[in-house]
Amino acid sequence: MKKILLSPYTKLVKEHHDMWKTLRKKGVIKIPLPLYRALYIYKKWLAKKLTVRAHKKTGRFLSLHIDTYTACNRKCNFCFNHDRFPSKKQGIMSEAMWIRIIDELADMGYTGKLSPYYYGEPLLDKRLHRLIAYAKKRLPLCFIQINTNGDLLTEERLLELIRSGIDMLKVTDYGNMGIPKDTPKSKISEQSKRLKYLAEKYPLYIYLRSWKEINLMNRAGAIFKRNNPRKNESCQRPSCQLIIDWEGNVILCCNDYYSDYKLGNITEDSIINIWHTPQLQKYREALESGKREAIKLCAGCDCIGILDKNYVLW
Ligand SMILES: C[S@@+](CC[C@H](N)C(=O)[O-])C[C@H]1O[C@@H](n2cnc3c(N)ncnc32)[C@H](O)[C@@H]1O
Ligand code: SF4
Ligand code: SF4
Repeated sequence: MKKILLSPYTKLVKEHHDMWKTLRKKGVIKIPLPLYRALYIYKKWLAKKLTVRAHKKTGRFLSLHIDTYTACNRKCNFCFNHDRFPSKKQGIMSEAMWIRIIDELADMGYTGKLSPYYYGEPLLDKRLHRLIAYAKKRLPLCFIQINTNGDLLTEERLLELIRSGIDMLKVTDYGNMGIPKDTPKSKISEQSKRLKYLAEKYPLYIYLRSWKEINLMNRAGAIFKRNNPRKNESCQRPSCQLIIDWEGNVILCCNDYYSDYKLGNITEDSIINIWHTPQLQKYREALESGKREAIKLCAGCDCIGILDKNYVLW
């Protein structure tokens, strides 16, 4: 017990000493730091335990993506936002729908990972801190994470998000990827410096990587074709991860960019009913037994089907 609790606590205190002091000074943390840090570790431990237990007992999802804002300011060449792909219907999820989803999750006691983004750039959404604050209030144990290109990330915005209850920003430095060719080099290097500065100052909240470090997937065969090593591999994504698009459709997987595989809509049925719908169950059975070819979307997909527990559960 001592080993499990003390080791992450020591890391949290020692390695992030300056960050804690800054957050306390800026009024982001209002209670004494030792108490805050102890609560932080305890909540993470509890959330993980409850999430895994619910998944094992009822087959409930471990993580979910909610597409709150579809647009992105970049057009990376390994992403559906690139010009070579037909654009899909763009939109913004209404706050009423967001509240409805969060309330439903709170009613079922959801404690897993919550990701309010999909193929858009979440920092373009000016409501983001408000959406996160509501989610954190109703789902205090959930781990809330966004992935972002960091183009709009300033220290002020970051502190606003931390105050709202965000747990992690996975920031990818895309350099000159997907932006106009005439963008000055100085602007790109300033951006990299800013992201590095923020990641070093707030190490617990920012995980920074370069786009070159992305383990690129072919997004169900759409982004690039290659000799598919995972053709007959089991895929458990639809058994672990729930995806809701901006119009409230529950879709098969995070590679279903165009929402072709709609399993239900949250304005017409409960999330949990849709999660257990027979059609989705049929897909799961095929995919778990490695029959990717049985589903058109999945036939050419090279995505790793067994989700890394650390990815799913922070
Ligand atoms: C689609 S993006 C949306 C969020 C945000 N705009 C961003 O880029 O972080 C979500 C995540 O997918 C990653 N990504 C994009 N294309 C990918 C690909 N072909 N394979 C694997 N990951 C990819 C991005 O780096 C990002 O971390
Ligand atoms: S920044 Fe993210 S969402 Fe936008 S094009 Fe690049 S990978 Fe896609
Ligand atoms: S095989 Fe690929 S497209 Fe199909 S559910 Fe799994 S990850 Fe998604």
